Amino acid sequence: MPIHRSGDILPSEITPPGIYRERRRFMQGVGALAAGAALGVAPDARAGVRLAGVRRSAYVLNEEKTPYKAVTSYNNFYEFGTGKSDPAANAGGLKTRPWTVAVEGEVGRPGVYDIDTLLKLAPLEERVYRMRCVEGWSMVIPWVGFPLSELIRRVAPTGNAKYVEFVTLYDPSQMPGQLSRVLDWPYVEGLRLDEAMHPLTILAVGLYGEVLPNQNGAPIRLVVPWKYGFKSAKSIVRIRFVEKPPLTTWMRAAPQEYGFYSNVNPHVDHPRWSQAKERRIGDFFKRDTLMFNGYGPQVAQLYRGMDLQRFF
Ligand code: MTE
Repeated sequence: MPIHRSGDILPSEITPPGIYRERRRFMQGVGALAAGAALGVAPDARAGVRLAGVRRSAYVLNEEKTPYKAVTSYNNFYEFGTGKSDPAANAGGLKTRPWTVAVEGEVGRPGVYDIDTLLKLAPLEERVYRMRCVEGWSMVIPWVGFPLSELIRRVAPTGNAKYVEFVTLYDPSQMPGQLSRVLDWPYVEGLRLDEAMHPLTILAVGLYGEVLPNQNGAPIRLVVPWKYGFKSAKSIVRIRFVEKPPLTTWMRAAPQEYGFYSNVNPHVDHPRWSQAKERRIGDFFKRDTLMFNGYGPQVAQLYRGMDLQRFF
């Protein structure tokens, strides 16, 4: 683990989420204990624990962060239900230890990595990112994680590795939403290798300086801030390096609506709604959606010469 330097004050510590959270956590704890006792599951004790040694990074935004309460109670995580409040209500019992991530396919060093080994792979950093959901809402979230490239470099992709596939846990006994056929489980996402290697792409293990709540994809999830939120697969158990673009869950469900790239693009509408504007959670008025979610200067070169209407 990186050494904690006391001079490093996280931006999230300067704007403390406030007393109400403590109260809320206490009340939640009481509720979760009661629910856990009823279902015979122990609530996960890790969510909300302060992460040690988190470094500041250059990835900060001059925009108001979405309050912790909204980030952790308005979620999409269909494994726990399709309603926005379902993940917070139903994910508490997900067991995030022991947890392993299998690295497979076109790599020199495949293997099954324990989550606590992955946590020591690289120093943890705070990255404040704009996140834009394909449904038209957005948030600003102070993630804690490390660049995916740090993992990729260590596992040494072969020359045949052109894409990376990410797979979420499949365990209907813990993820009741998987008992419904709303999606083809397990949840699969994918990136081109250069997108996966991009310095903005991280594996997140926390938010607001604390261990990731289960509803946000504990213990480890992808975060790709220039793409619609559904690319950022949660609770990952498998990372596979492949030659061909992976068939993602959303492409399988509705190929005419969800393409492989899914870059945030105000000029390419979803077949059923416009993507030109978005509502930042907490705001009353909508704002313009930015090309590549505002990360164009960093990522536009990845798509030079590509027709983004066709490769949506
Ligand atoms: N990952 C899995 N495994 N299952 C899901 O349903 N939903 C996606 C993405 N990752 C989803 C997932 C969608 S649509 C969004 S917008 C983001 O997670 C939401 O992340 P958040 O709840 O942390 O804001």
